[in-house]
Amino acid sequence: MPSEMLASSLDLTAIRAQFPSLSQTVNGHPAAFFDGPGGTQVPQRVIDAISAYLANNNANTGGAYATSRRTDTMIAEARAAMADFLHCGADEVIFGPNMTSLTFAISCAIGRELKPGDEILVTRLDHDANVSPWLAMAEDCGVTVRWAEIHDEDCTLDMADLVSKINVNTKLVAVGYASNAVGTINPVKQIVQLAHKVGALAYIDAVHYGPHGLIDVAALDCDFLACSTYKFFGPHMGVLYGKREHLRRFRPYKVRPNTNAIPNCWEWGTLNHECIAGITACVEYIADNGRHTASRSSKMRVPHPSRLSKGGNDAAGASGLSERRAAIEAAYASIHEHESALLEKMMAGLKEIPGLRIYGITDPARFHERCTTFAVRIEGHTPLELATQLGDRGFFTWDGNYYALNLTEHLDVERSGGFLRIGLVHYNTADEVDRLLAALREIVAS
Ligand SMILES: Cc1ncc(COP(=O)(O)O)c(C=O)c1O
Repeated sequence: MPSEMLASSLDLTAIRAQFPSLSQTVNGHPAAFFDGPGGTQVPQRVIDAISAYLANNNANTGGAYATSRRTDTMIAEARAAMADFLHCGADEVIFGPNMTSLTFAISCAIGRELKPGDEILVTRLDHDANVSPWLAMAEDCGVTVRWAEIHDEDCTLDMADLVSKINVNTKLVAVGYASNAVGTINPVKQIVQLAHKVGALAYIDAVHYGPHGLIDVAALDCDFLACSTYKFFGPHMGVLYGKREHLRRFRPYKVRPNTNAIPNCWEWGTLNHECIAGITACVEYIADNGRHTASRSSKMRVPHPSRLSKGGNDAAGASGLSERRAAIEAAYASIHEHESALLEKMMAGLKEIPGLRIYGITDPARFHERCTTFAVRIEGHTPLELATQLGDRGFFTWDGNYYALNLTEHLDVERSGGFLRIGLVHYNTADEVDRLLAALREIVAS
C-alpha cells in the first residue's frame, strides 16, 4: 500500500476500491475527482441497491401486494438510516428531489404564518438555495429581509453584524453550515441560540457540510436542517429534518388525498424510490467506515455501551445512540483526520503558486473553521480556462459561482468568471493533491 494512504485511520485503498468511477482515465491520465462539492461519487453498494430495487421491488407505496409492501418497508428503513445520520426521529425525516425544492416547499408553509413587519435573516455567504426561497416568501408575505455580511478578507460571517440584525421581529434565520464556495464552517450552534433567544426559527443548509462533518440536529437544536445525499456518496435526493413540533404545527401545501400525518404530509407526489433505496446503502457505507476504523485504530473513540440503544430511529436522545449512529460518529472522526492532512497539504502547496489568490481562511491555526473546499483565482487565467486545462489532464474541478451568487457578486469576481473551486472529500488522496499542484504549477509556468 502506498505510504500516503496510511496517513489516517481510513483504509483508503479499501475505500477507493468501492467506488467504480474513481478508476476512470481521461486522455490517458487517471481521473482525480475534485468536484465533490458539486456531487460526490457513489460506492458500488449504492449502485447495487438502486438497481436491486428496480429489479425486485419497483412499485408505488401503500398497495396491498408484495412489491408495494416491500417499497413501504424500504422507505421506512431509509428514514431510519437518515434519522441515525442526522440524530433525530425517523418521523422528522422528509425526502424530496433535492435541497432546493424542499426549501421552497418549507418556505411556503412558514410564509403562511408571517405578516408585514416580521423579519427574516439570510447571509451573504450562502448558496442561493438558502436565499432565494426566503426572498420569494418575503416578497409574497411583505416580510423584511435582513442580510448578514461577511469579513471580506477571510470570507467568514461577520458575527457582530449578524447579531445586530436579529431582533424581536426576527422570525427566521437561514444560514449555511459550510460554504460551498470558500469552505468556511459557520458557528451554527451559536446562531441557532441567537435565533431562539428572540423566538425565531433556525434553518440550516448542511448540504456542503454533510460529506465533511458529523451532523447532529439534537445537539444543534436547530428547527430545520436540509442536506442532499448526492453530496455525501449517495443518490441525487434531498433530505429535510424538521423538529417534530414544527412539522405538526405548520401547514404544508399538499394534495388532499395525501395523509395529514408527519412526515409524509410534507412529501409531494411519488418520490424517487430507487434513489431512496440508495440512501440506506450510502448511510451504511459511511457507518461501515466507522466500524472499520474503530477496529483498526486504538485512537478512534468507540462509544461506551451505555450510550448505545437498540433502535435506529428513536427520537434523538430518547435512548442514547444506535449502533449505526455510533459508527457514523466514528466514521466522521476518521474522515476529519484524513481531510485535515489533505487540507494542510493543499493549502501549503497553493500558497507557493505564483499569482494564485486563495479566498477564505488560509491560517493553519484556524483550519477548524473551514473544510477542504478551496476557491482560488490565478492572475492571467480565467477560472474556466484553468478548469478546462485541468479537466484535459484528468482533474475534475469547477469554475464560476456554484450558485453562491451573493458571495461572488460581493467580492466582485462574478463578472470575471467567479472562482476555480477545488473540492476534496475523504476518497481523495495525498498523491492526487500533489499531482494537482504540479499541474497548476505547470499551467502557470506555461
Ligand atoms: C451549500 C449548498 N446548498 C444548497 C445546494 C443545493 O442543493 P440541491 O442541489 O440538493 O438543491 C447546494 C448544491 O450545490 C449547495 O452546495
